[in-house]
Amino acid sequence: MMNLKIWFFGLIFSLVLAVSLSASEDEFFPEAGTHFGVYYYPEHWPEAQWERDIKRVADLGFDFIHYNEFAWARLEPTEGNFDFTWLDKVIDLADKNGLKVLLCTPSPCIPAWLAEKHPEVLRVDEEGNRVGHRGARLDHSLANPIYQKYVARIVTKLAERYAQDDRVWGWQISNEPHIQGGSDYSPSALKAFRAWLKNKYGTIEKLNEAWGAAFWSFTMNHFDQVIIPSANPHAYLDFETYTSEEIARDLIDQANIIRAHGDGSQWITTNYASFKGLKNVNPFLTREALDFASHTMYITHNIMNDAGDSLSHRLGAGMEYSMFGEIAASVSGYTGIMELQPGQINWGRFNAMPLPGAVRMWNWHAFGMGQRLVCTYRFKQPLFGTEQFHHGIMQTDGVSVSFGGQDFVKAVNEINAIEDQLDTDATNAFVEKTRTGFLWSQRNVMDIERYPHRRDWDTWQHLYTWYQGLKRMAVDVVFLDPSDAFDADFTPFMVVPSYQMMSPELIAKLETYVKEGGHLIMTTRSGLKDDRGHLWEAKIQEPIWPLVGGEIEFYDHLPLGRPGMISFAGSEYPWYMWGTLIKPYENTETWGVFEDQFYKGTTAITHQNIGKGSSTYVGTWTTDWEMEYALLRKVYTRFAGDLPFDFPPYVFADYRDGVWVSVNYTDQTYTLPTEQQAEFLIGEQDLTPGGVSVWKD
Ligand code: GAL
Repeated sequence: MMNLKIWFFGLIFSLVLAVSLSASEDEFFPEAGTHFGVYYYPEHWPEAQWERDIKRVADLGFDFIHYNEFAWARLEPTEGNFDFTWLDKVIDLADKNGLKVLLCTPSPCIPAWLAEKHPEVLRVDEEGNRVGHRGARLDHSLANPIYQKYVARIVTKLAERYAQDDRVWGWQISNEPHIQGGSDYSPSALKAFRAWLKNKYGTIEKLNEAWGAAFWSFTMNHFDQVIIPSANPHAYLDFETYTSEEIARDLIDQANIIRAHGDGSQWITTNYASFKGLKNVNPFLTREALDFASHTMYITHNIMNDAGDSLSHRLGAGMEYSMFGEIAASVSGYTGIMELQPGQINWGRFNAMPLPGAVRMWNWHAFGMGQRLVCTYRFKQPLFGTEQFHHGIMQTDGVSVSFGGQDFVKAVNEINAIEDQLDTDATNAFVEKTRTGFLWSQRNVMDIERYPHRRDWDTWQHLYTWYQGLKRMAVDVVFLDPSDAFDADFTPFMVVPSYQMMSPELIAKLETYVKEGGHLIMTTRSGLKDDRGHLWEAKIQEPIWPLVGGEIEFYDHLPLGRPGMISFAGSEYPWYMWGTLIKPYENTETWGVFEDQFYKGTTAITHQNIGKGSSTYVGTWTTDWEMEYALLRKVYTRFAGDLPFDFPPYVFADYRDGVWVSVNYTDQTYTLPTEQQAEFLIGEQDLTPGGVSVWKD
């Protein structure tokens, strides 16, 4: 009882602390523009070089420096013996050179003595093997209480020493939080998962029902029969949801320790990695505990979505760069890029040189997107270790600026120079009236990806289809968690792409959004299941029929290479994924029709006015994404008037503080549709491949 009380008051204390001490974007980032910094690992270099290197960081135009990320073995070389002298020295050197310090907690890499003394802190992989202390990262089990105890101690030591040090600007918790290998199957994780289930369901009967355990005799008698991994789709979803909460719990616990020692003037973040690659990482779960979510970006590794033209391997995947930035920004309203490659990386499929100018363009793109900070990974190319071929701002001699580094430094100085021309109060009517909410949750993506119904369905590509269309119009996108408010004034448009699992409450919220004036575009396979992942005991998608404006009778799939045609607004487009056959209600407009197959003439796209808003349902997915783009233009023109931009895919423009910033990730020059009076601060109307143009209207 006593323990519970302490826990309860501890929780209340942390919550009060988090609310009372968290400051806003303007307090943390009072100046216009973007801060630029570098990753520097003093532990990789002789002490004699520290002064020279840190001075060079400042001389090149950067204004902050990032330390301490993986340095646990240096901070606590043997159990309980702490050494902060080296960190004190480099913080001091940063300060002397006018650099702000970003400190990390070293939790991603446990020291050898900890693994030796407590091998149970190491995680277990899907085959049941416990990993060793092998010179990698994230090899621990987050759920392990011994690991948690040691992390809390080292973070407390750091916080006691630096949480009120005004040379320290902010904190990064952990590094790219996720579970190495996807999930942890250790006994600690199993124990924690069973407790999580008990808390969620209360009784095993309720769990059996939620998991549909009657299927294939999966019915269990008690929680101790639950194992991981499980083949059951609902168990899978619960396990991955538990995992995302465990990842968030670790970040929250660490953040609370720092907050408890600080005075609220330092910000706390973590650096989320690719949301596409990390299915069980949910940044919305740390919204309250962290001041903002930052993110990392490597865009030339050739496994992302790019323009697929002759320069894509050198210019990178601008669309995913933009999308992940907007996802991170949506958590707290602002973000920063915690890692941006300064040149070639070491781990891509192949690692081409960036096009001269590309590294500069990425920085300008970051600036345009409103990023408050950009930190490059890394300052010096390492001479040893796993990432030897990862380029830095400096070459391997440690003193010469690298090929990409030159571009990086150029951008930093250009952007620093433009800052006095920014108007942080400026707003743009087009941006305001077209801002778009984009409903997204990792849980929903996971549910589809587990059983996509056809092997070539790719949920992320479906999301990209719609995101890219929005960016071709230069629309500002805010990613919404299903628990967020859907505000028709803030986001007059809302895109809900393939949102398969919906609770009745979510459907009701979407209906209210539309009635209150929002314009909803929902796409194929949305609302097929309830939020446990069960199909409705009703006709196909019946709970969303009021938003569809018709009855959904069947759905069809075609083989790749034998597409059907769909007509929309006078043109025909090929499709083969998930064609939904709709029988529209009387007052519903039919916008798209299947032009062949045995159901030729059936409605595939509907549109209706509801209350003060409208709802459009797109019951298929075309092969080249052009129909989706045409549809977006039709809806936005109808409800927001003329659209200033009609970019080819992979050309972008963002509005920030009174200027437009446009960048080009294609191999073709694009002529910007700027007005005669436009004043170009950078570049010109012709935007070359890898080019940047910045103008005031
Ligand atoms: C990131 C990671 C960094 C570094 C980098 C190399 O994903 O967070 O620590 O390993 O990759 O590109």
